Amino acid sequence: MRFDIFTLFPEMFTGPLTESIIRRAREAGLVEVHLHNVRDYATDKHRVTDDTPYGGGGGMVMKAEPIFRAVEAVLGLSPREAGRSVSPPPCPVILLTPQGRPFTQQVAEELSHHGRLALICGRYEGVDERVREHLATDEISIGPYVLSGGELPAMVIVDAVTRLLPGALGDPEGARKDSFAMGLLEHPHYTRPADFRGWRVPDVLLSGHHGHVARWRRHEALIRTLVRRPELISAHALTEEDFTFLRSLADHVEALLKEASS
Ligand code: ADE
Repeated sequence: MRFDIFTLFPEMFTGPLTESIIRRAREAGLVEVHLHNVRDYATDKHRVTDDTPYGGGGGMVMKAEPIFRAVEAVLGLSPREAGRSVSPPPCPVILLTPQGRPFTQQVAEELSHHGRLALICGRYEGVDERVREHLATDEISIGPYVLSGGELPAMVIVDAVTRLLPGALGDPEGARKDSFAMGLLEHPHYTRPADFRGWRVPDVLLSGHHGHVARWRRHEALIRTLVRRPELISAHALTEEDFTFLRSLADHVEALLKEASS
């Protein structure tokens, strides 16, 4: 997977790209991350990349020209221009914006099947609308909040997509077993010591009985998802045994309610 990231702040990426899973994936040749400073593609003497908005109002808007030039040069695109028919880009060109479609695990999986992704990081109050209309092929938001730019969202996407690439995680089952991927939140995790300041690890995990451990984990995942993110539970992902367990929980709740109201 090759990521081409277009940004005014390439230094922001240094930490996340040189640590942990992404570093290992890069070293293993699974991913390449190419950072492109949009300022290098500004043509005027002062390399201006933003300007005041037409129509007035506060703030600055990122200019279309340096972004178009950067993306066209790196992706080998013929210059876009009104009325000219041009071939489509060789990969998705994603504009990071709070107005984009929500980024989910499903979107991460969809993106992981491309060999290459171009990510455009907006800054300031916004990006000239012509970038969205005539250069980007997709727009993604990482959540319903406004960040000061698309750099952190781009890092989030690089991370979420990279760990889905075969071989990126030490555990080959890793990404498949993840919460969300299974349609459920994960069960609780514990490691040594078995007794930490009087808080003990559940006995079942120390029992060495794989069947019991697996059942406990599944039940915990179901309860956790039910309580925290009920909308994640989809009937088709549940087994007959899950239904039996959930029905027993419901019976339990029913009995408690009866007792409380009698
Ligand atoms: N740029 C600013 N906020 C953003 C968000 N929530 N998602 C994607 N890009 C952004």
